[in-house]
Amino acid sequence: MIHVNDNFIKLPSSYLFSEIARRVEQFAATNTGEPVIRMGIGDVTRPICPAAVAAMEKAIADEATERTFKGYGPEQGYLFLREKIVEHDYRARGIDIAADEIFVSDGAKSDTGNIGDILSTDATVAVTDPVYPVYVDTNVMAGRAGELADGRWSRIEYLPCRAENSFIPALPQTAPDVIYLCYPNNPTGTTLTRPQLKQWVDYARRHNSLILFDSAYEAYITEEDVPHSIYEIEGAKEVAIEFRSYSKTAGFTGIRCGYTVVPHALKGIAPDGTAVELNSLWNRRQCTKFNGASYISQRAAEALYTEEGRKQVRQTIDYYMANAKMLLDGLTGAGIECFGGINAPYIWIKTPGALTSWQFFDLLLEKCHLVGTPGVGFGPCGEGYLRLTAFSSHDNTAAAVARIKRLAF
Ligand code: MLT
Repeated sequence: MIHVNDNFIKLPSSYLFSEIARRVEQFAATNTGEPVIRMGIGDVTRPICPAAVAAMEKAIADEATERTFKGYGPEQGYLFLREKIVEHDYRARGIDIAADEIFVSDGAKSDTGNIGDILSTDATVAVTDPVYPVYVDTNVMAGRAGELADGRWSRIEYLPCRAENSFIPALPQTAPDVIYLCYPNNPTGTTLTRPQLKQWVDYARRHNSLILFDSAYEAYITEEDVPHSIYEIEGAKEVAIEFRSYSKTAGFTGIRCGYTVVPHALKGIAPDGTAVELNSLWNRRQCTKFNGASYISQRAAEALYTEEGRKQVRQTIDYYMANAKMLLDGLTGAGIECFGGINAPYIWIKTPGALTSWQFFDLLLEKCHLVGTPGVGFGPCGEGYLRLTAFSSHDNTAAAVARIKRLAF
């Protein structure tokens, strides 16, 4: 029999959100009471905006005639989309990014998971704790993580983020080769200001670290001093790769489209000591393993940058952020300590009393028929917290608040 990749054997048997889905399905199968409200995985509920729908209809029509039919597209993404990204996501913010530094993909989950392909398997890694599990699990798969003990992998440096440090991680102790940052943060919904992010860029420059900056939630930023892109910070192009996604911005969790920025200024070292552009390695990787996001989803993404597309996207984000406010106000008013929700669609709740994350998860499911995500699922420092998303409907969000209030903590 074939020997399998033993790194997979080291992993917990199921992915966090798959495990939650399993538990919820089990509960829902016998539930005869109030319908279950799902605020666990950060999946959106509002329909795709009309501008993107019209663009997809047109793209489907293109596929239906010989003259306009599209087969394989460029592995890096169509130029029509990359040029819009350059103009609206970067140039409009005074950031100089070229179209050939942008790689369109099927989303940030794949890219943050796959980026390790171009990094040494010996590279050391630091993550904030709690953390989006993809960063850790994919490093385990690649053999970079070491051994698991007490919820932590031995070769990963964990940077605690708790209420006690206002969820602002301290700079690493170990000069890691790779640092994952996600801001606005999943799961805590908290952010770094420009000066705070600058400290990370400066640190990476001093220690030759690579920052993998996941900016999937940037569209939810409401405060002026919160950077939308790491490239707002001087020198970041020499140390950072940025990941963006239309999933949360425009409800593309099912359509699938995102992109990754790998600046030419960003270099790594080959075994013979020569400097290598990460851009060319990622390009090589994508050309070999990826055939691009579909023409239809890229046309949909392009439409988000039109005037009407931008307006419609804003309306949907405002809708979700009204939910975030409802959750923050309602739960805080009920004496529950909450974080996030100002620049992100996630509310990070301190579990009442001495409840663990999973105990609070079970309580909410059984008594309120409400699904959250146990904080400890995102890392040891998530213990004693639970995450709710703002991606539900207004009605369900109001109902969730009312049901939690019934518990009278
Ligand atoms: C989450 O719930 O953390 C996200 O939906 C996961 C993802 O974007 O893959």
